[in-house]
Amino acid sequence: MNRRRKIYEGKAKILYEGPEPSTLIQHFKDDATAFNAQKHEQIEGKGVLNNRISEYVFTRLAEIGIPTHFVRRLNMREQLVREVEIIPLEVVVRNVAAGSISKRLGLEEGTALPRSIIEFYYKNDKLGDPLVTEEHITAFNWANPQEIDEIMALVLRINDFLSGLFLGIGIRLVDFKVEFGRHFENDMMRIILADEISPDSCRLWDVETQNRLDKDRFRRDMGGLIEAYQEVARRLGILVENGHPKASGPVLVSSK
Ligand code: TMP
Repeated sequence: MNRRRKIYEGKAKILYEGPEPSTLIQHFKDDATAFNAQKHEQIEGKGVLNNRISEYVFTRLAEIGIPTHFVRRLNMREQLVREVEIIPLEVVVRNVAAGSISKRLGLEEGTALPRSIIEFYYKNDKLGDPLVTEEHITAFNWANPQEIDEIMALVLRINDFLSGLFLGIGIRLVDFKVEFGRHFENDMMRIILADEISPDSCRLWDVETQNRLDKDRFRRDMGGLIEAYQEVARRLGILVENGHPKASGPVLVSSK
């Protein structure tokens, strides 16, 4: 296993060369970081949960026709993915004010936004992933206008679908971050969803209690991160009470 060629190591994941051309193995680590890795801890079991949750979300998104890099889960911590040329943007969609938009614009956390807002951040750790506009993206050729349009259309579909999926299990999708890549196949290029979608990259609040079921538990020293991620997995129907994986679908929460 360790002889595999490492292609890239990020803060929470490692990419290895895959078994076939144009594939990679995405390995989920237990590392949790915040504030551009100024805060860093190992949280045992986080990688396993994110692997399962991201597999589940990417599979559901593929079912509604969102092209993704996910091929199949290989084991507890790894999935086979399609190789992409990553577009150096973190695309954030917000439904409710929280985190950096609350600070930047002085909005109370929990305020519903007038409509879903898409933001782009330039993926560059040295610069702390600065907020950028479409002008920067096209001027520096990180993506062309057509690619930006496609990404915006995709994230709005992802947002609508995931908002409904999570609402069905009593969770409010406050915001999330996704990344896209260019996948080349037979001289054709298409933009596909890459990276992960997990409680590391979303804000997920319990509808009833407003309890945080995401990485803010780590960022804000609230504790109980694993329990929160397990709760998300349990409600999605991918974990049973004793923590072992199960195969059935989401557990519906009654609506009021
Ligand atoms: P923010 O409010 O800190 O800008 O975060 C917006 C969303 O993006 C939130 O769901 C957390 C996620 N996120 C990441 O996945 N990676 C990051 O590096 C940052 C800053 C945020």
